[in-house]
Amino acid sequence: MSQTIQVLDKHFVPFLDASTIQTKVQELANQLAADYQNKKPLFLCILNGAFMFASDVFKALPIDAEICFIKLASYKGTKSTGNVITSIGLDVSLTNRHVIVIEDIIDTGKTLHSFLPQIHNQQPASVAIAVLLHKPEATTYEVPIDYCCFTIPNKFVVGYGLDYDGFGRNLSAIYQLAE
Ligand code: IMP
Repeated sequence: MSQTIQVLDKHFVPFLDASTIQTKVQELANQLAADYQNKKPLFLCILNGAFMFASDVFKALPIDAEICFIKLASYKGTKSTGNVITSIGLDVSLTNRHVIVIEDIIDTGKTLHSFLPQIHNQQPASVAIAVLLHKPEATTYEVPIDYCCFTIPNKFVVGYGLDYDGFGRNLSAIYQLAE
């Protein structure tokens, strides 16, 4: 992988290369295909950060499935604000559906913890949570994670959909904030 990169005013070092990510994405898609055969699951992608991850998992999935999107945000710069804002809401019914929530990263856990009751209110047939990254040291809100590609240390990361103040999402690898 290449050397240190700069996104806006901060420097980042290589952390997970593109092929390592793609291998895990394929494994996840295979696992979901085995677990959801004939269930026609509904992917619920949490925008913005999960768009690339959701797209790659969805493309790799060899079973019938649907996808929808919701936009939640709690981050400003490299810190969580603690307030979760819904700026694009749900426009499909989750009732009796097998819902798979696709999230980029569980950090404090507040975003999903505060959104999950809205999902359960609609009485889906089942709810599973699939995340690309989890920072267990930072997680203070309980979130029942069913599928996790990578458990990572409590350091800010960018790339593969994750941003620093809006930038860095287009990187195909994931980079960690330099010390
Ligand atoms: P939580 O509510 O603290 O779990 O934060 C979840 C959201 O914060 C994620 O969906 C990301 O959008 C953002 N986030 C958390 N950690 C990072 C990071 O290291 N880099 C970029 N975004 C992050």
